[in-house]
Amino acid sequence: MRNIAVIGAGQMGTGIAQTVAGEGMHVMLADIDLAHAEAGKARIDAAVTKLVGRGKIEAATAKALLARITPVADYAPMESADLIIEAATEKEPIKQSIFENAGKVLGPDAVMASNTSSIPITRMANHSPDPSRFIGLHFFNPVPVMGLIEVIPGLATAQATTDRVTAFAEGLGKQVVLSQDEPGFVVNRILLPMINEAVFVLGQSTAGIEDIDKGCRLGLNHPMGPLQLADFVGLDTCLDIIKVLYKTTRDSKYRPAPLLVKYVEAGWLGRKTGRGFYDYSGDAPVPTR
Ligand code: CAA
Repeated sequence: MRNIAVIGAGQMGTGIAQTVAGEGMHVMLADIDLAHAEAGKARIDAAVTKLVGRGKIEAATAKALLARITPVADYAPMESADLIIEAATEKEPIKQSIFENAGKVLGPDAVMASNTSSIPITRMANHSPDPSRFIGLHFFNPVPVMGLIEVIPGLATAQATTDRVTAFAEGLGKQVVLSQDEPGFVVNRILLPMINEAVFVLGQSTAGIEDIDKGCRLGLNHPMGPLQLADFVGLDTCLDIIKVLYKTTRDSKYRPAPLLVKYVEAGWLGRKTGRGFYDYSGDAPVPTR
C-alpha cells in the first residue's frame, strides 16, 4: 500500500497523515472542503516544524514529508488510493455518508478503513461497496507518538483484508492488537469506564481535579491523569464513546457521568476549546474545580 487517502483533517486525521507520509507513502487529505484540508496540512506543517526546531528531524526530511501530503477538495482523486482511512467525527450518520460517497471511487482492490473509537465495524461495513474490504483501523492520539494500532475485522471482512491492513500498520512502525468487533474494542472498553469513573469521583467531591489526576499519575504510573487525558481526547469524544458502550450493551455500568454530560453541554470540550477540566488559556493548565 503506497497511496493512502485520509478523510477528516482533525486531530486524528492529521496525525495519521503525518505518520503515513513520514514512512514515505503518499497521502491525500480530505475534509468537508479544500480549505479545511489545507488547514489540516498547515497544522502538520507546524508540528513537523516544531520537531525540526527541537532537532528531532532534519529540515529536508520535514520538507519531503510535507510534499507527500496533498490536500484534496473531494473524493474523486481517491480512485487511485490503495487504502482510504476515514477519521471523521465520531457520529455514525457522518461516517455512513463518507463510506457511501468515497465508496463510489474505491478501486477494485482497495480497502476502506474506519478509525472509529467504538462504533461497530460490521454495521458500518454495510455502507461501503464491499464489506469484505472494510475494516476498523484504530489509531491512538498523538498518532506519531503512540505505538499501538487496533485492527478490527467485521463479520464480513476477508482474511486477506485483515492481513494487508495489519502489514500496513506494522509498516508504520506500530504494534498491532487484533480485536473482535465488540463495543469499544479492547483499549477504549477499558479506558472510557476509567475516565467516566474519574468524573463520577469528581462529581461526588471525593477529591478535586488535581488530586484525581495526581493519584493516577503517581499511584498507577500513568503519563496523564484520567481528567487530563479526557481533556486531551476531547470531552465530546469521550461522551460519544461511553454512550456507544451504554447503548450497545445496555449495561448500566457504562452510564455517562452526569458531570461529563454537563461539561459537554457547556461547550467545555477540553484542550481544543481552551477549557475542560482544566483551563488552557494561560501558560500552564489550571484545574477548574
Ligand atoms: N509528531 C512527532 N512526535 C511528537 C509529536 C508529533 N506530532 N508530538 C509530540 N511528539 C514527541 C515529542 O517530540 C517527544 O519526543 P521525545 O520523547 O523523543 O522528546 C514526545 O513525543 C513527547 O512529547 P512532549 O515532550 O511534548 O510531551 P510529554 O512528554 O508530556 O508527552 C504525551 C506527551 C506523549 C501525550 C504523554 O503525555 C502521553 O503519552 N499521554 C497519554 C496519551 C494517551 O493515553 N493517548 C491515548 C488516548 S486514547 C485514544 O487516542 C483512543 C481513543 O479512541 C479515544
